[in-house]
Amino acid sequence: MIDNTISDTSRIKDARFLTKLIKADEAAALISHGSTVGFSGFVGAGSPLYVPLAIANKAQNMHEQGKEYQINVFSGASTDVDLDGALAKAEAVAFRTPFNTDPNMRAAINSGATRYVDVHLSSLAWQVEAGYFGNMDFAVIEISGITENGELIPTTSVGNNQSWLNYADKIILELNIHQPKELDGFHDVYHQPLPPHREPIPIKTPRDRVGSPYMKVDFNKVVGVVLSSTEDRLNKFTPLDEISIAIGDNVVKFLENEVEAGRLPKGKLLPLQSGIGNVANAVLAGLTKAGYKGLECYSEVIQDGMLELIKHGTVDFASASALSLSPSAVEEFRKNVDFYKEHIVLRPQEISNSPEAIRRLGVIAMNGMLEADIYGNVNSTNVMGTNMMNGIGGSGDFARNGYLSLFLTPSMAKGGAISAIVPFVSHLDHTEHDSMVIVTEYGFADLRGLSPKERAKKMIAIAHPDFRDMLQDYFDRACEQPKAGHTPHLLDEALSWHSRFKKTGTMKKD
Ligand code: COA
Repeated sequence: MIDNTISDTSRIKDARFLTKLIKADEAAALISHGSTVGFSGFVGAGSPLYVPLAIANKAQNMHEQGKEYQINVFSGASTDVDLDGALAKAEAVAFRTPFNTDPNMRAAINSGATRYVDVHLSSLAWQVEAGYFGNMDFAVIEISGITENGELIPTTSVGNNQSWLNYADKIILELNIHQPKELDGFHDVYHQPLPPHREPIPIKTPRDRVGSPYMKVDFNKVVGVVLSSTEDRLNKFTPLDEISIAIGDNVVKFLENEVEAGRLPKGKLLPLQSGIGNVANAVLAGLTKAGYKGLECYSEVIQDGMLELIKHGTVDFASASALSLSPSAVEEFRKNVDFYKEHIVLRPQEISNSPEAIRRLGVIAMNGMLEADIYGNVNSTNVMGTNMMNGIGGSGDFARNGYLSLFLTPSMAKGGAISAIVPFVSHLDHTEHDSMVIVTEYGFADLRGLSPKERAKKMIAIAHPDFRDMLQDYFDRACEQPKAGHTPHLLDEALSWHSRFKKTGTMKKD
């Protein structure tokens, strides 16, 4: 809901910006059909909400009058129901990139109504600035304040904001007075120029601050400041189920083996990256249970699980691009904001997900997946090889460059109709060269240093028992063929599990 009565301008310390105050529908009126718009927002945190909603209303009105109206939407990562959701419902999006979790936008992408390009989260900003995607007409960025020097204070995410501010022709700022004032000081905004002017990123530990707490903006490009008061998309936190807990415990078991083998430092491990969702939260809970203290995270998102760990001292410091919390975690964060400021930094996603920083720090990457095959190739994005789920997000940034790269999944999906371990992945995001360890509730398959045939044995052992014999049978028959080769496959059957699911609703044979 847009509230047009908000009039509190106390957070605007540079008076020049007061001359730019406009309402959300006036901002939407500036954005014409065919415009390319870079929005702030990362995993539901820090998205502007009034201006997108006003754009969606405008689109709906224009469509009712039989007029064309669609825009191209760029973001940090997933946004909010009032951004992706409202724009998708209004059929207002011609093009979308990068990550999206909104069901209406997902439907628009999969029906072909919206063109979608899935880009690594670390790469989009520089690819846009290099001109790979053409011109950006507008940046619409949520902020929590404007300093006396005309610098912008970000809110709960930094994402691609600075890049959109640099690259867009015109800028609309959405000043959200609901976001805590105390967010001032949480951020470290550092921006790399394009080659050949790039420098090494001077981050040697997750806690290093290398930029400014504020974003820079060219005042002459600002065409509007909209006052808003809204909550972030608040993520539901569901209690951990048995399967997630078992996966978390298997991850901890694996890490402890690594410490014992001398491949990870005792006590502190190396900086952790954990993906989104309950499995990621379960891993963090497993680390607490195992008594770890003083860990560091170099990750993408700080969720409830991480906040808990910071509170209890399991994690001493976390670097990310966004704070994506449930309502109860937001309350806890607001109450103890000064404490959390000592333990959290929020960075642009090109830095939180920087391949250079991840490789230097030796990050332990842990991400969810849809399916993996018996040789360790991983599909994170396309259900049955065809329907976009959310996008690759930061999983490739971390998996490709991590010191250790783990993929985690329940062994089955859709009530047992789908096996997460299949003969051949139906879409490929992370190749066997980048996935080191696959974890299910049945254990971990440590694929490092193994040939494909050795990998298959490990992978079959962590599949759900309902599917193990079928996988073994596929593998045995593939190996028995004359000239079976280095990576044996039955090419006529490799995707038969997926086609059987499409035809019968289950991968199981009757
Ligand atoms: N085939 C079809 N559907 C599958 C599936 C498969 N092999 N595996 C899982 N699913 C479905 C689940 O049934 C569930 O559907 P629902 O929402 O209708 O219940 C949904 O996918 C999510 O699965 P879940 O088991 O709850 O796992 P998750 O929340 O951890 O999500 C991914 C898994 C792969 C979708 C998620 O990790 C993702 O988007 N990854 C890519 C981005 C990424 O890794 N980012 C990390 C950096 S933060």
